[in-house]
Amino acid sequence: MMRTVSAALLGLGTVVNAIALPQNSATAPSSVRPTGTNAPPAYTPSTDDLTSGCANVAAVAASFVRTSAAQSANDFRIDPKIGYDCLQSIPLDKEPALEFLFELSKFFQFQSTITYLARPPARSGQDPMDILGGLTDLYNSVESGSITQWNELETRVDRLLSGCHEGHLYVAWTLPSLINFRTPFTLVDLSPDGIQLSKPYVFNDVSAASARGSTFQASAITHIDGEEVYTAIQRLTYYEQSQSVDTRWNAAFQSQNPPKQGSFYFRTRYPGANTFTLTFENGTTTEYAYEAYAAHVPGSNVWSNLRTGRDIWTRLINIPPSSSSGSAKMLRKRALETAKKTRLQNGPLDDVFQMLEKRQGSNSVPPPSELVEFNKSFPDTPRVNPYIQDINQVVGGYFMDDYAGDGSRTAIIDITGFAPDDPSAQFAPHAVQAAVQMFLAEAKRRNMDKLIIDVRGNGGGYVNMGYDLYKQLFPPSDPYSGTRLRYHPASEKIAEAFTQLVNEDVINNLVRAIGGGMGQNLSTNQLNSYNLASYASLSNLDQFLNLDENGQPFTSFSDFIGPVNIYGGQFTNIITYNLNNLLAVGDLSYDITGYGDRASFRNNDPPFAAENIVLLTDGVCASTCGIFGEFLRNQQKIKTVVVGGRPNNEQSAAIGGTRGTQVIQHTAHMLNFVQIVENNFQPANDQERQQWDQIFPRAFKINIAEAAVNWKDNIRRTDPTQTPLQFYLEAADCRLFYTRDTLILSHNLWAQVDGLAWGADDACAVGSLKNATVVLGDSNGVPVSIGSTDTSGTNSGFGDTPQLTGDRTIDTGIWIWYGVRNSLGSSNGRRPY
Ligand SMILES: *[C@@H]1O[C@H](CO)[C@@H](O)[C@H](O)[C@H]1NC(C)=O
Ligand SMILES: *[C@@H]1O[C@H](CO)[C@@H](O)[C@H](O)[C@H]1NC(C)=O
Ligand SMILES: *[C@@H]1O[C@H](CO)[C@@H](O)[C@H](O)[C@H]1NC(C)=O
Ligand SMILES: *[C@@H]1O[C@H](CO)[C@@H](O)[C@H](O)[C@H]1NC(C)=O
Repeated sequence: MMRTVSAALLGLGTVVNAIALPQNSATAPSSVRPTGTNAPPAYTPSTDDLTSGCANVAAVAASFVRTSAAQSANDFRIDPKIGYDCLQSIPLDKEPALEFLFELSKFFQFQSTITYLARPPARSGQDPMDILGGLTDLYNSVESGSITQWNELETRVDRLLSGCHEGHLYVAWTLPSLINFRTPFTLVDLSPDGIQLSKPYVFNDVSAASARGSTFQASAITHIDGEEVYTAIQRLTYYEQSQSVDTRWNAAFQSQNPPKQGSFYFRTRYPGANTFTLTFENGTTTEYAYEAYAAHVPGSNVWSNLRTGRDIWTRLINIPPSSSSGSAKMLRKRALETAKKTRLQNGPLDDVFQMLEKRQGSNSVPPPSELVEFNKSFPDTPRVNPYIQDINQVVGGYFMDDYAGDGSRTAIIDITGFAPDDPSAQFAPHAVQAAVQMFLAEAKRRNMDKLIIDVRGNGGGYVNMGYDLYKQLFPPSDPYSGTRLRYHPASEKIAEAFTQLVNEDVINNLVRAIGGGMGQNLSTNQLNSYNLASYASLSNLDQFLNLDENGQPFTSFSDFIGPVNIYGGQFTNIITYNLNNLLAVGDLSYDITGYGDRASFRNNDPPFAAENIVLLTDGVCASTCGIFGEFLRNQQKIKTVVVGGRPNNEQSAAIGGTRGTQVIQHTAHMLNFVQIVENNFQPANDQERQQWDQIFPRAFKINIAEAAVNWKDNIRRTDPTQTPLQFYLEAADCRLFYTRDTLILSHNLWAQVDGLAWGADDACAVGSLKNATVVLGDSNGVPVSIGSTDTSGTNSGFGDTPQLTGDRTIDTGIWIWYGVRNSLGSSNGRRPY
């Protein structure tokens, strides 16, 4: 659907910041590397290094462009030292830097969990992060001249956001597309049997050891830079996106399902030194060099006019995205591509408008048989072909008996995202719907009675697709997802505007005009109104396009918008989708199973009994996957298995990523919302005009690719505290570690899960499937986090009392924020950034 998201594989090798475990100081990100006995010295460029850094990169570029590789390569290798010298030599000019921070602060007002991040609930696994207070500090540092380098400002804003561990909250910076860092190999984290604790290995060693006839034994890593490996990997992955520490741990390592190399290998930012050491169990310590890569455009030399840090500031950073040159545009494009692969994202509304065109008869959806393929290879499972997959390789459906020949009655659905990786994919939601439907029909024909749903690495995608998969598995069930937005002056203004512009009459007329099935062609007026309705729908800020928590229309605007005071913040009332209204749900020409043209599916029996389904994750299940997982777990009591995590015997969260239900981007979406308001309404007077400038986000004038916020929370109906679900880390019923065989070949992992759920095996590393309890909350229905031993006081004490004085409004003397200042103050209890 439109609120949707393109490919959103979390953890595809992204590491937002790998420099360090934060320390208890709000400044000074230096001296953050471990200083173990084997740590190579941290590197700080001298004045001469800074002066020559970019010229040195340009010199490498000048010889690289004369090689044949330059005709096709997107980057070229440089010494990490000169890469860092060049980055650190980029200056900033105060005025545009301050304006940029101001714009960010307006946009981040829309981050739904600001108050929860500033004072996280107990046992949420989240450290306090005060986004708005942090931006104030950085603003003041730029203004006072204590931050003078763009790379430092960028890195610190990045840490401030990454420290929130919220996959929907980010800035897609362009600098990491210009110069980035890598290690020479990937790591894997393996246990001998999946039950004993795992240990990290160099992947090449594991491959060499398993080569036919090899006598080599891979030795596990005990220390990185002289620091004990358990601490070192946690330090390395601290700034990863997931709220669960175990899910973040997994991000460091290579995996096959989905294919990713891991964040030990990919370093977005300078790792702090030019070399690193690994110490192995066999006693050997080896030093390795980091690698660095600089951007290249085939057939040209982008570095010919980038000889100083100031050149980069002027030509690549301090120019508005709208009017930028070739190289600046190239960086933005690459940054967006990276964000697409590694971040949760909504596409622009183009998809929806294209679907409308298709619905208008010019390009109709092919029949299901043309949207699927049988017995073809699938990237997640190199040796085993799925019985069926959609043409975009989003979902694969397998029968264990097909490849194991064991007569088993277990079926597997493998879905590593709710959207295709390929941006040019066609008919993605239709194709997945068709593949799942045909797979379930075949499962029934073959009398399959058990199902494993493998969502490892699933960072979300089309919200519709998550609803549809759930409804195909449980046709009579009504999925419940209660959501809400942050209430503040800008969200209220936008809601007022959309509610007036796209009212009940407009909606009814449009729905009638579009009709069912492929529908009618719309007039120009109707198209304009459709366009507006699509933005209103995407924003969720239209009273008439939403239902209340009981599935009823809101009785008034204030019944919809609130504000409701909870946990020191203000929110809209709980809203739910009207799944029967094609405009409200978006994504025309696609009906979720059980609604619209597919309403009759509601009469079908579920193809599998809930007790015969197991959900398999690696903790990376976020966004749409978080919504899907909540349906399965909370409404059907499906058992869960989580694989990986830190080597300990603790419970670990099955759904470790953000459970927010929508991401909204600054440039692709928010600027359109604001433009719609300003095109249709006038401020009443000068004072209101000034207020609009204070609260409405405007186009960036700095060359960054995008920024995004978590727009909506998901709230469990039985939770009287209405805490966003990601602030609960709910334990998986069974925890396993990877072995070499289950890491590389998914069907080996499925066999292990099958044995634990329905076969002869009992032993998980932690927990049990046969004895699974599927804890759904305490006696009040409040979800229970890992480590919670009592049923009282899941939250840390702010309850639903609004914190009104001095807390609601921050007047920095520069601008006014409607947020909270972390009550812990500016330097204590807060992670640095
Ligand atoms: C120790 O183990 C490492 C990692 O497997 C290996 O590279 C190295 O060759 C081993 N050293 C000795 C002396 O066996
Ligand atoms: C699937 O294709 C492979 C060859 O790619 C073949 O060996 C196998 O028999 C096929 N399986 C089925 C069930 O058709
Ligand atoms: C809609 O327009 C297309 C051309 O764009 C045309 O082929 C089709 O017949 C029209 N459909 C209806 C129902 O008028
Ligand atoms: C299941 O739980 C019961 C009671 O808590 C316990 O006695 C039994 O050993 C458990 N079985 C397994 C397979 O974990």
